[in-house]
Amino acid sequence: MSFDHSGLRAQFPILNAGPGPLHYLDNGASAQTPQAVLDAVLAYETTARANAHRGVHRLAEAATDAYEGARAEVARFLNTPVDEIVFAGGCTAAINLVAHSFGATLKPGDRVLVSELEHHSNIVPWQMLRDRAGIELDALPVTEDGRIDLGALPRLLTERTKLVALAHVSNVTGAALDVPEVAAAARAVGARVLLDGAQRAPHGPLDLPALGVDFYVFSGHKAYGPNGIGVLWARAELLEAMPPFLGGGSMIGRVTLARTTWAPPPRRFEAGTPPIGPAVGLGAACHWMASLDWSAVASHEMSLVQRLLDGLGEVPGARIFGPAGLQRRYPVVSFLLDGVHPHDVAQTLDGFGVAVRAGHHCAQPLMERFDLDGTTRASLAPYNDASDIDALLKGVAHAVRTLR
Ligand code: ALA
Repeated sequence: MSFDHSGLRAQFPILNAGPGPLHYLDNGASAQTPQAVLDAVLAYETTARANAHRGVHRLAEAATDAYEGARAEVARFLNTPVDEIVFAGGCTAAINLVAHSFGATLKPGDRVLVSELEHHSNIVPWQMLRDRAGIELDALPVTEDGRIDLGALPRLLTERTKLVALAHVSNVTGAALDVPEVAAAARAVGARVLLDGAQRAPHGPLDLPALGVDFYVFSGHKAYGPNGIGVLWARAELLEAMPPFLGGGSMIGRVTLARTTWAPPPRRFEAGTPPIGPAVGLGAACHWMASLDWSAVASHEMSLVQRLLDGLGEVPGARIFGPAGLQRRYPVVSFLLDGVHPHDVAQTLDGFGVAVRAGHHCAQPLMERFDLDGTTRASLAPYNDASDIDALLKGVAHAVRTLR
């Protein structure tokens, strides 16, 4: 299958702004934004800018419609009921919300299970919960090829485990989690499952109810949307049973000086004026993603991953950190060059117009497990093409020649 790649690339102003070619392979940190998203945000700012859920004038109603319309777009992208979508400041904010609000339902001695390859945003909030609420934290180990080792589930998943919180796709190795296996094991002990979907959501629509998990989080800016917006999805009965995280306007039923009652979800978890423009942009990004032929896009992205793996395979002293092939992986590739620091590789690549990330990728426990300072990481999006991979390989060859 194919898709109109040059037409798609043309929709991203920054990729065509010049002066030189931009080989943007840092999508795992922040993806670029198509014109449709920019247009949606500009339309809100110029025709509907007002507060949401607070006014009866024409602009206030337009702002409310824009904000709730964005929620409906996100729900369509995830195939969930609209009232199960909570807007948060980002993926990190969404996980912190769950750690506080679902965390408030846990007792000392209850356990949360993460893994050694988690992003810091899926470790630190649980450590903070441990320190304030007396829960215990366990971590699944990682296999040599950078996957969460599900062979350790029988040992680490117990009837005291109340939540399993794992990356759907690793931001370092690109490895995809075997979600059905985790969901079945968690269900067998009555534990809930949270997936950090920050690296999965940018690669096409999801069917969250069918995944068999309970919480799902992702960021707007990695999914072709604006900064400052993210999503928490949770099953209605879970949201209903959770106390609020932040207090303030909008999340209330009734306030007296003596006490306050809470609004029903999702508003219970959206205190204060929401990030309306960013939400509108994220809604437009979900609409844009849903318009793509993802089976064609995925085969395009994976053919680029293969080109990259093959090219690196020919570089003496280059090593892939993560799965060696295309099975159960997404287009995120970390690599190492013997004798060259990852930061120096990234800096050399910048000289070739290639943007990658280097370092620990906010996954220090994973680096410690493999005794690494960091890796160099290329993370792909639908607008990438063979010229991006070839520019990276040219830069790598130069780094090997000049820095070793
Ligand atoms: N979590 C983002 C990354 O992996 C910032 O680069």
